[in-house]
Amino acid sequence: MYKSKITGLGMYVPEHIVKNNDLTQYMDTNDAWIRERTGIEERHWVQPGDGNTTSSMGTAAAKIALERAGLTPKDIDLIVFATLSPDYYFPGSGVLVQEQLGCDTIPALDIRNQCSGFVYALATADQFIKTGMYKNVLVIGSEVQSTGLDLSTRGRGIAVIFGDGAGALVLSRNEDKNDQSNILSSHLHSEGKYAKELTNLVPGGIHPPKELVENWPEDDFSYYPYMNGNYVFKHAVVRFPEAILEGLKENNFTPQDIDLLIPHQANLRISQFVQKKLGMKDEQIMNNIQKYGNTTAASIPIAMTEAWEQGRIKRGDLVVLAAFGSGFTWGSNIIRF
Ligand code: ACO
Repeated sequence: MYKSKITGLGMYVPEHIVKNNDLTQYMDTNDAWIRERTGIEERHWVQPGDGNTTSSMGTAAAKIALERAGLTPKDIDLIVFATLSPDYYFPGSGVLVQEQLGCDTIPALDIRNQCSGFVYALATADQFIKTGMYKNVLVIGSEVQSTGLDLSTRGRGIAVIFGDGAGALVLSRNEDKNDQSNILSSHLHSEGKYAKELTNLVPGGIHPPKELVENWPEDDFSYYPYMNGNYVFKHAVVRFPEAILEGLKENNFTPQDIDLLIPHQANLRISQFVQKKLGMKDEQIMNNIQKYGNTTAASIPIAMTEAWEQGRIKRGDLVVLAAFGSGFTWGSNIIRF
């Protein structure tokens, strides 16, 4: 079995910044509530005409990751694209990146695991490297969520949380026996009985788009995302530590061995709860939800890229990724960077 090494990281966010106070023009909310409950101060949202789509932002992040890896699109053997907000119903956004980057006719697959999407995507990419099937895999998380939010007061419990953006990494075969860089293990879970606690039901196979235009009830808003926030929160604070401890145990580590924990940026209060539960120091946790909001599948690669740019991740560090979200799905990756 080969080792997998992260050789490049990149991120891209739309230029337009929406501060908490800007949201008051649409809904009954306020800066104090949003900061206190979520830690979020601002987020980036795409704007009409700015050209940003889920695939184009993924491509922009991927170009930076490729350059940092010292590779070109022709070196990539597989694209794994995580998103809950693809450009189209079908095909997925991975194939659009294949075209936009000018890769050869390599395989491209989309991962539909929402906030856990990047953890699932990295685990998937890792299997292809470990078995020797591919040498370089591009792993992307990207979201345009702002265009699908209910910006009225009815939707404020969700709308204030989500942001747009993309992050990417290149995962490469590590054949150097003296180089310990590797994805040590991944731990993935799901519990579909909670599917409707955090969901976007319409349109879908059960309620296809034509129902929306033909005879949709005026008081049915299930074409907007729905989240039973409190309920999700209670599950998140259990599943995050569980997934992290499961991964640490398998590799004989403790929370104190972690150089940097990069949790999916769902809510600053969730991250703080996890930190406290695991007895970790501030410098062991990466939080940047304050600037970007919850960017779902993009949040981990955005946070990881920033951490690397700030010198908070160095070669040889023990880095742990963990996520929880819609599905419910959750999981972790234990990484020797
Ligand atoms: N501004 C002002 N007031 C608000 C807002 C807002 N934006 N949103 C809700 N409120 C009000 C509610 O109406 C409610 O008022 P009431 O008490 O008069 O009824 C009050 O604030 C409290 O609302 P709660 O929903 O109970 O607030 P809570 O403290 O639970 O915070 C939040 C909500 C931030 C959504 C939190 O529950 C949370 O973060 N949940 C987990 C999110 C998560 O981890 N998601 C998973 C990843 S996302 C994915 O997978 C796609």
